[in-house]
Amino acid sequence: MNEDINVESLWLIPKRDSSGKHENVYHGNFVPQIPNNLIKRYTSPGDLVLDLFMGSGTTLFECENLGRDFIGYDINETILDYVKGKMDETSSPVRFSINRCDVTDGELFCSITAEELGKLGHEKADFIIAHPPYMDIVRFTDSEKDLSHIADTDLFVSKFISALENAYGYLAVDKYFAIVIGDVYKKSEVVPLAFRVMDAVKRHFDVKMKGIIVKNIEGNRGKLGVNSIWHARARRSDYYIFKHEYIFVFKKIK
Ligand SMILES: C[S@@+](CC[C@H](N)C(=O)[O-])C[C@H]1O[C@@H](n2cnc3c(N)ncnc32)[C@H](O)[C@@H]1O
Repeated sequence: MNEDINVESLWLIPKRDSSGKHENVYHGNFVPQIPNNLIKRYTSPGDLVLDLFMGSGTTLFECENLGRDFIGYDINETILDYVKGKMDETSSPVRFSINRCDVTDGELFCSITAEELGKLGHEKADFIIAHPPYMDIVRFTDSEKDLSHIADTDLFVSKFISALENAYGYLAVDKYFAIVIGDVYKKSEVVPLAFRVMDAVKRHFDVKMKGIIVKNIEGNRGKLGVNSIWHARARRSDYYIFKHEYIFVFKKIK
């Protein structure tokens, strides 16, 4: 039994893990502790992880640390070149594949995935992780296919579902996928983006929901302390400062 796996629904992460290849160079990345926990919980050594929005490679570096194979996709060529450079620094003990791909493009996604699965010697994936843009809060690239250009919630949810649909067929039955996402604030109100996505997933796929985890990074937040300008502004107004995000875990049942 692995006792460092967090099985509680509130993850208060004291400080970002900056060991090994984790450099925190990408605005919008997640902390390595998230994929680390999920990979340990839902996969075994030698299993294959698919990462639909791989960004700066946080999940890949954890797969490397934990001995899991990896296929990742992103639309941002610049960040993919950065990740390839990091992977070239050492000879990796795991098999991995990094792909420039618009994950909403079914034909492209399937042709890449079928080929890479064959090369890595897997029939299906054992776990999928998806950490998409939170609508247009952080702009990642100039590509019009980049989900971070979408300001409309319904459109964002439907594009996200189509990306997941493309990947879902490659996930083995009885295996898990996780979505890491936060809410957004638009036109003076909270848009519960995370709940919208969670609800759409539950309606669209044959899944069991296994976890709604709330996470917050506790450390390195001096500038967000109670005496900060952000707190003063929030107190003068009527809103709350977002501190948390969600990790939703689902199990594919057929
Ligand atoms: C929140 S970031 C993921 C960060 C990643 N977890 C990390 O730790 O670096 C979202 C990523 O989605 C990518 N993206 C946006 N639209 C995409 C699309 N249509 N297809 C593939 N990737 C896309 C962006 O380029 C960005 O790197």
